[in-house]
Amino acid sequence: MRSIPRVARAFAVTGALALGLAACGGGDDDTASGDGGGEGGDEIVTVGFVAVGPEGGWRQANEANVQDTFTEEAGFELKYAPATNLDQRSQIDAFTSFVDEGVDVILLSATEGAGWEDSLRRAQEAEIPVILVDRGIEPDDTSLYVTRIAPDNYEVSTSVAEWAVSAFPDGGNYFVLEGPAGVSVVNERNRGWDDTVGAVPNLVKVGAQTANWSTEEAKSVFETVLRANNNDIQIVFAQNDEMGLGAAIAVEEAGLTPGVDVQIATIDGTKPALEALAEGRLSFVAEYNPLFGETLLEVVDKVLNGEEVEPYIVVPSETFDSPEAAAAALPDRKY
Ligand code: AHR
Repeated sequence: MRSIPRVARAFAVTGALALGLAACGGGDDDTASGDGGGEGGDEIVTVGFVAVGPEGGWRQANEANVQDTFTEEAGFELKYAPATNLDQRSQIDAFTSFVDEGVDVILLSATEGAGWEDSLRRAQEAEIPVILVDRGIEPDDTSLYVTRIAPDNYEVSTSVAEWAVSAFPDGGNYFVLEGPAGVSVVNERNRGWDDTVGAVPNLVKVGAQTANWSTEEAKSVFETVLRANNNDIQIVFAQNDEMGLGAAIAVEEAGLTPGVDVQIATIDGTKPALEALAEGRLSFVAEYNPLFGETLLEVVDKVLNGEEVEPYIVVPSETFDSPEAAAAALPDRKY
């Protein structure tokens, strides 16, 4: 049982007093509900969001969704603190400020997996619950945070690997375009892919390199890879959409046809990727659903009410394996 955060205790005490007063014919019954998120509770809950900031389409959708959910009308004051140039130091400074300020809860989307122990322990000492949003920490010490909310990166990348195995029964050479080194989801996605593809001897890894989630960098990296391998690459596993789109440009500029000569699979499920899949420039897109703000709000409410929550709350995501599937999904896509 995780210790009851400060705010929940406050509500618990207020609730008890209210119930006591109510029994004597006084006090408000709305404080008895002890809701953290403003529904029923009469206090604004302050949320410190240690965020990543500008990084690409997925991040923009995720952070906008969190900000659109934790509104004043919903009973929250969201303090948004994006990293400076993806720098972890700036995140740790923002985290420390939130602890010193005594916010009610901290949301953390970590730019780096490692290096969070001291910050998390400080929050624990201040009885401020920390919820990991999307990104995990490494090593993963679940005693240092209340829960993590994200799609399951291992399962998402396994779905990409299973597509590759089924699409290439006679095997092929593949290259992996990775996100930045040290980011938790990159390691999780590598494990999911390797555990499935690694068991298939005729799927041959030519190499892997980070392109830092960037289309431009992925184009440059994959141009070099194609030249160095006489274009003999059949599959690209790009760990996000932007890098997959960069690989597609590199394939086209090499005089090849994406979807025919080289099949590219990506993770995220942003509109540009589904549009490319509908056109045949990508071959498989695994959604990594960023729109989980409502779930996050429910979890914050539960945590501030001292309720137990699972250590990892998985956000459901789907996959798209054909131009028809992408075209059918596009009209309703929200990011
Ligand atoms: O942590 C999620 C990853 O970060 C997304 O897949 C990528 O697009 C983002 O930059």
